[in-house]
Amino acid sequence: MFSEEIIQRIKEENNIVDIVSETVSLKKTGKNYSGRCPFHNEKTPSFTVSSEKQIYKCFGCGEAGNVISFVMKTKNFSFPEAVKFLGRRVGIELEDEEYSKKNSQTQEKYKRMYDLNIQAGRFFYTNLKKNKEPYDYLKRRGISDETIKKFGLGFALNDWHGTRNYLKKIGFKEDEILELGLTTKNDKGNIYDRFRNRVIFPVFDVTGRVIGFGGRVLDDSKPKYLNSPETPIFHKGTNLYGLNLAIKNNFSRTIIMVEGYMDVISLAQQGVTNVVATLGTALTEGQCKLLRRYVDTVIVSFDSDAAGQKATARGMDILLKAGFEIKILQIPKGKDPDEYIRVNGREAFLRLVDDALGLIDFRLKAAEIGIDFRRKEMIVKYLKIVCPILKELDSLERAVYIKQVSERSGVNEEAILRTMGENRSNSLKNSENHNINEKFGQKLYLEPGYIKAGRTILKLSLNKELRDKILNSVNSKDFSLSSHVMIFDTIVENQGIAEEELMKIIEMKTIQDSDFTKEWVNIQGSKINIDKSSVDKMVSDCIGKIKKYKLEESKRKVMNEIKMCESKGLVEETLALAKELMDIQKEIAKL
Ligand code: UTP
Ligand code: MN
Repeated sequence: MFSEEIIQRIKEENNIVDIVSETVSLKKTGKNYSGRCPFHNEKTPSFTVSSEKQIYKCFGCGEAGNVISFVMKTKNFSFPEAVKFLGRRVGIELEDEEYSKKNSQTQEKYKRMYDLNIQAGRFFYTNLKKNKEPYDYLKRRGISDETIKKFGLGFALNDWHGTRNYLKKIGFKEDEILELGLTTKNDKGNIYDRFRNRVIFPVFDVTGRVIGFGGRVLDDSKPKYLNSPETPIFHKGTNLYGLNLAIKNNFSRTIIMVEGYMDVISLAQQGVTNVVATLGTALTEGQCKLLRRYVDTVIVSFDSDAAGQKATARGMDILLKAGFEIKILQIPKGKDPDEYIRVNGREAFLRLVDDALGLIDFRLKAAEIGIDFRRKEMIVKYLKIVCPILKELDSLERAVYIKQVSERSGVNEEAILRTMGENRSNSLKNSENHNINEKFGQKLYLEPGYIKAGRTILKLSLNKELRDKILNSVNSKDFSLSSHVMIFDTIVENQGIAEEELMKIIEMKTIQDSDFTKEWVNIQGSKINIDKSSVDKMVSDCIGKIKKYKLEESKRKVMNEIKMCESKGLVEETLALAKELMDIQKEIAKL
């Protein structure tokens, strides 16, 4: 789709250091730059960017790639999207003509929708300036003129057709206005303004376009808020209120998640700008996916009423699945963040942020609610809630928290452990992390041997002098990763070509897929001491390692199948599998 020339130009003109700096705070360390990895949670920086090689690599999680794969991964872009994005950044327009002609009609339609929303927003804003009642209402709530402007707050007149008439007058059609939910149609087919006599909160998407509106009554009448319905440009499940402002200069990659529009606005006015709110609905996976591009840590601060607590619990599950580090900020005395910061000020609120509990602490603390530790039956009740939580922890966390629970309840650690019962599956889970080694307080990711082995063979076969020999003794079936197979096949197809030229071909073949790019960057970076006399042995050792890994994998699989067949009493199948297992073991022994 894109020519090699264009892709090269885009890579050259977009310095990876600049692109990464937009989302990661980088420090110059010698020849390279380093910062906290955007692909895994870490406290000490192990993410390195090389300006010279125009690549990045993380020594904590093994991620690697170039400027294009970085954009693909961090922004969830496809390859063409990433190329277009980077192209636009340096003034190279890449929309191919046929595509844009076919879409020009839809594009025009969408442009009008955004335009209509802007015009409506401006209309509401002017209304607010001209009407004392809503303006005084916002003033009473401590909202400054500057904040009104920053968030584009407005007012919908107490009129059934004010907004509709205005928008029609400036050239929009009835259907267009209706489609964006600024008007609504009743059973009789009458069309009237959705928002009447309400303070208006325009909702912006992450790029700052107005996609919808929320409207609040000026008193205690119901419903308190009305929102735009789902429209072609307003999707509540994939947007967050305040996100466009919250991601600006957010180098800590931390965000506070609140429930209400007013919370976002009020905190921002006091200088706490990394805040977002859901759009009057429960937190969705789509919102998490969007947020994941910009932050690692979410501090949840939902209201302390029952509904808020339920939302906290549900939201936490979704956030955990999306891979965020979670903290819970609790506001004393049933207040919401807006009320709290207005009464107690910015410093007090920031103290609450500092004191926000991690997930485990939060759950353990919640278990203490209503427990009187002087009463034995209460202690039993407490332990019954707490033990299942402790069971879910890894061994290190367990050691720490069992001690804490023991101190809190006065029951000794032994007894708590016994109550928890054995939980093998969890301790097994931990041993899977064995390739994360702690070194000098920094976590180092150790690549599995079979992956390194594949990289070694490929790196060696780039070398023109060694290539023929290696290709004679290696088969693409010998590799375990699809990226390795692909790169190997490319080398075979271009066997006679010089190293430099071959590398360019592989570069173009891997560039469309960020996992392929990762392997390609890692292969080039593999450090091998080439001793020509021992190349044969080196290659056969590598093949052996991969073979062993594959055999171990099938062994694991067969063993699982045996367990399953046994539990179902399938004798014949179990025996057949046992034979298969023995064959695999013999193969392994031969290596
Ligand atoms: P809150 O009632 O906590 O909102 O509802 P708030 O922002 O603190 O409102 P104030 O301070 O009373 O003005 C949380 C969010 O839930 C949605 C809105 O998005 C609101 O900001 N909501 C609430 C609705 O969509 N409809 C409602 O009737 C109420
Ligand atoms: Mn509120």
